[in-house]
Amino acid sequence: MQKKWWQSSVVYQIYPRSFNDSNSDGIGDIVGIVQKLDYLKELGIDVIWLSPVYSSPMCDNGYDISDYRNIAPEFGTMEDMDLLIDEAKKRKIRIIMDLVVNHTSDEHPWFIEAKKSKNNPYRDYYIWREPNEDGNVPSDISSIFGGPAWTFDKATHQYFFHLFASSQPDLNWKNKKVQEEIYNMMNFWLDKGIGGFRMDVIDLIAKEVDKNIIDNGPNLHKLLKEMNLATFGDRDVLTVGETWGATPEIAKLYSDPKRNELSMIFQFEHITLDWDEVYGKWKPKSPNLLELKKVLSKWQTKLTNDGWNSLFWNNHDLPRIVSKKGDEGKYRVESAKMLATLLHFLKGTPYIYQGEEIGMTNVKFDNLDDYDDIETYNFYKENLKNGFSHDDMMKAIWENGRDNARTPMQWNNTENAGFTTNKPWLKVNSNYKSINVKEALADNNSIFYHYKKLIKLRKDLDVIVYGDFKLIFENHPSVFAYIRSNNHNKILVICNATPNAVTIELPKSLTKSKHQLLISNYEIDSLNGLLTLRPYEAFAYNL
Ligand code: NOJ
Repeated sequence: MQKKWWQSSVVYQIYPRSFNDSNSDGIGDIVGIVQKLDYLKELGIDVIWLSPVYSSPMCDNGYDISDYRNIAPEFGTMEDMDLLIDEAKKRKIRIIMDLVVNHTSDEHPWFIEAKKSKNNPYRDYYIWREPNEDGNVPSDISSIFGGPAWTFDKATHQYFFHLFASSQPDLNWKNKKVQEEIYNMMNFWLDKGIGGFRMDVIDLIAKEVDKNIIDNGPNLHKLLKEMNLATFGDRDVLTVGETWGATPEIAKLYSDPKRNELSMIFQFEHITLDWDEVYGKWKPKSPNLLELKKVLSKWQTKLTNDGWNSLFWNNHDLPRIVSKKGDEGKYRVESAKMLATLLHFLKGTPYIYQGEEIGMTNVKFDNLDDYDDIETYNFYKENLKNGFSHDDMMKAIWENGRDNARTPMQWNNTENAGFTTNKPWLKVNSNYKSINVKEALADNNSIFYHYKKLIKLRKDLDVIVYGDFKLIFENHPSVFAYIRSNNHNKILVICNATPNAVTIELPKSLTKSKHQLLISNYEIDSLNGLLTLRPYEAFAYNL
């Protein structure tokens, strides 16, 4: 496989609304991001994935776009965007944009036109169907945000299709004009010099609603090949598809370089294994390390040279990993570093979500009103009908709700964590006085510097990027350990994923050679055969 810059890169995701407010309106903005580029440079990341900043009525915080070629006023202007691309470039940071093309906002001019009449030229940009014989929804497909995926349009007596909120009508990808419009828009952004795209729910665009096929539709890979050819194929960019329904076999279809589709995808098996089969994240299961080991090592070994992995714990839709799989109390620092170590020595491109690098935690608002997320509200209503109590739902929201990731970035211990001087659009997590960037930068032992070191190690050691992966202590219920190796190096990674001390015995083959400690979250003297790992202890040796 020919080496690519994005294989040795580390990506940092910014949720603009919550990152940094430069104009005191309580909402983060693009100039606010420019102000923090030096901070990101210090961390050492190569790429920023920018969640949507386009014009939008913000029903889903920008994942409902009303103009793909303009910037939402609360985030700034196109000049600000050009400035961000430029200033990032000066620091050798590329910007990848969020491409949300499964759906638009219902305020997009295409949909406004489409709604006017059945024979409007834009009608077929979206998916419309007659009511069924009883006058009801055309089929029983559900929206991912709860309720039916069909909404009746009174004016024209047809239903339109939306896999998310009714304010997010799905585009009809069978229409060549839709494809052309999207490809032109992608080229508009590529011409500005962006570094690629993160493609929102890209595995849904080839749906066949009449056959009840939603993800991985039969034409999906044909469409992606056409998109590649019409847009980024001859440009040296990073493309990453959000694909909840991917298996390693499917991942190869997207990311095998010979197939000319995408650089890589986000798979979610390691996330959904903690979800209930029926109620998903709203009825969380307790995490199981053996399952996690199985899933992550499957992806490591099945997707090797004929595809590429992305590595992540967090994004704007997921709870904070330290709260989820670590300890947000006594061992917050140790467990956040352990989780970072576990992920960053794997093969693939790591993604860090804003605040993860300082160990930000989930938030527990007592009042539902303090939440903002459309999905949270929709499912609160829906699940109360399903027999959940208010308390059940609040617990689920505290554990898995999307606003856990969206509370403002904690920059310092001043009011509103230095995010804004106004009232923030979403409340700041009350722990900002101790968990913030200023504290982290002032402490050599902070989670921040651990991430910085992990990023640096990836730059220095090819084996971390390209080496083979082998799980060891496969059936150990508390320890996640593995070896990465190539012709020159062998790296041993050992993580105790629990708050308890655990003793393990390393095979002689691993301790006999000279070894060099690369990173650890506790002081370590030497690598012995018999090891007692402290709570959440993690380290890596170059053997
Ligand atoms: C996935 C995005 O990550 C999420 O935030 C959004 O709500 C849906 N797609 C719809 O665009």
